[in-house]
Amino acid sequence: MRATIFAGLAALAASVTAIPTISAKGSKLFTSDGHQFFIKGIAYQLSPDDPLIDNTQCKLDASLMSTIGANAIRVYHVDPTGDHRGCMSTFADAGIHLFVDLDTVGTYILSDTPEWTRNQYSAYTKVVDEFQQYNNTAGFFVGNEILTNANSSIAAPYVKAAARDIKAYRDSKGYRKIPVGYSAADIPSLRPNLQNYLACGTNASEALDFFSLNAYEWCGDSSYDLSGYSELNQNASNYNIPIFFSETGCNKPEPRTFADQAAILGDRMNPYWSGAIIYERIAEANNYGLVSYGTPISATVSDQEASYIRSGTPTPISPDFSNLSKQWKTLTPTGVSESAYSPALTPPSCPAYTSDVWEVNGAVALPTLGQTYDAGVRSSITAGTAAASASGKASGTAASASPSASHTGSASGGNEIAGMSAGLVVVMLGFVWWL
Ligand SMILES: *[C@@H]1O[C@H](CO)[C@@H](O)[C@H](O)[C@H]1NC(C)=O
Ligand SMILES: *[C@@H]1O[C@H](CO)[C@@H](O)[C@H](O)[C@H]1NC(C)=O
Ligand SMILES: *[C@@H]1O[C@H](CO)[C@@H](O)[C@H](O)[C@H]1NC(C)=O
Ligand SMILES: *[C@@H]1O[C@H](CO)[C@@H](O)[C@H](O)[C@H]1NC(C)=O
Ligand SMILES: *[C@@H]1O[C@H](CO)[C@@H](O)[C@H](O)[C@H]1NC(C)=O
Repeated sequence: MRATIFAGLAALAASVTAIPTISAKGSKLFTSDGHQFFIKGIAYQLSPDDPLIDNTQCKLDASLMSTIGANAIRVYHVDPTGDHRGCMSTFADAGIHLFVDLDTVGTYILSDTPEWTRNQYSAYTKVVDEFQQYNNTAGFFVGNEILTNANSSIAAPYVKAAARDIKAYRDSKGYRKIPVGYSAADIPSLRPNLQNYLACGTNASEALDFFSLNAYEWCGDSSYDLSGYSELNQNASNYNIPIFFSETGCNKPEPRTFADQAAILGDRMNPYWSGAIIYERIAEANNYGLVSYGTPISATVSDQEASYIRSGTPTPISPDFSNLSKQWKTLTPTGVSESAYSPALTPPSCPAYTSDVWEVNGAVALPTLGQTYDAGVRSSITAGTAAASASGKASGTAASASPSASHTGSASGGNEIAGMSAGLVVVMLGFVWWL
């Protein structure tokens, strides 16, 4: 009885206490009250619309999410001119932090013709300006699955340049040090080099604050070893910045059990990983939804997504939602306290140029803001002649990138949908491998 009263009072106290902020220290995330932070997140998509405007909807979703212990959402598209006060405060009251993508349709860094333009910088910094004011903003992504094969590794310096400039902007404005990172497609041939490249170098101002992975390796009745997670874990064990799953939750075969959560948040991985974000909120044609808002209106071949209802009272998808709930309820890693933690890991070395594998000389100077992309820049990046800043054609008026077909590959225009296909390709390859 006394325990019940105490628990009730504690819950009440928690609900009126301001949400702590999140920061990165060494390879871990911490709350401002000194505890290590492990993400239990849900991809909160409304692509390409902004899901953080309609507070009536946010309240319905936040209260359901908090029942299963979610403490974070990832949002792919926001309108920085919108009013986010209602939704951000609703999620804060529910103990839910936000990881937000700074790019959107029309401002992505493109893999074939990468650029980091002033228009992109302006668009990304507007999102930073808007969301830095909220204590529950936990992280910014400068890109999602931009690199998908060896050829596109040439875009990596542009991702790193974007992070450099966003971090510098954040600091110059005196904003809280909200971590700035990247969300990578899980491409086995690219992953180790990309992961190392984004953290490498002696100048922390030019490295990312975190690295995250969209991984669909663990499908059905798998395990830590069979899934490939043991290898992911090995390559994370010396990583000097936080690393987490920015998308996970393979849906083949069904039902989804989310058994990988026990690995990610369990004893073998939680010393190195900072948790996971489950893909995704709304049930749509891709079958990854955790909740539904009603029976689809009609499914026309040309615009399937449009037939899915995307607002109203959320109904949990069964058994997926309760399976996830069961997993998370048993998983409450505590990690280390910030005061007891002294980071000792140093950045990985920058990967060398390897033809058809990693076509960037890791030692090359990063592109300058506004530098256009052409064959000369490409060869200076691959050769490592550091000509990037010397011959860089600074063009402040460069047109902003327009989304390629591959980035808008679905009717809903969601970058993450295109990303999903990359993830699924990997899953397919995995099946072939195990046959
Ligand atoms: C945000 O955190 C700061 C520092 O802890 C605190 O002073 C402020 O009241 C918080 N803001 C809100 C809206 O809770
Ligand atoms: C990617 O590399 C292959 C061979 O390695 C080449 O044929 C192809 O043109 C390249 N694609 C791009 C976009 O550079
Ligand atoms: C580190 O990188 C930042 C951003 O590019 C630059 O301004 C600074 O001069 C660099 N510091 C050193 C010691 O090279
Ligand atoms: C781990 O890193 C090594 C060396 O960089 C690489 O050869 C290997 O493929 C990586 N493993 C995974 C699963 O990424
Ligand atoms: C997931 O749901 C299925 C079907 O209800 C059930 O048999 C299974 O035990 C659940 N798994 C977990 C891990 O909750």
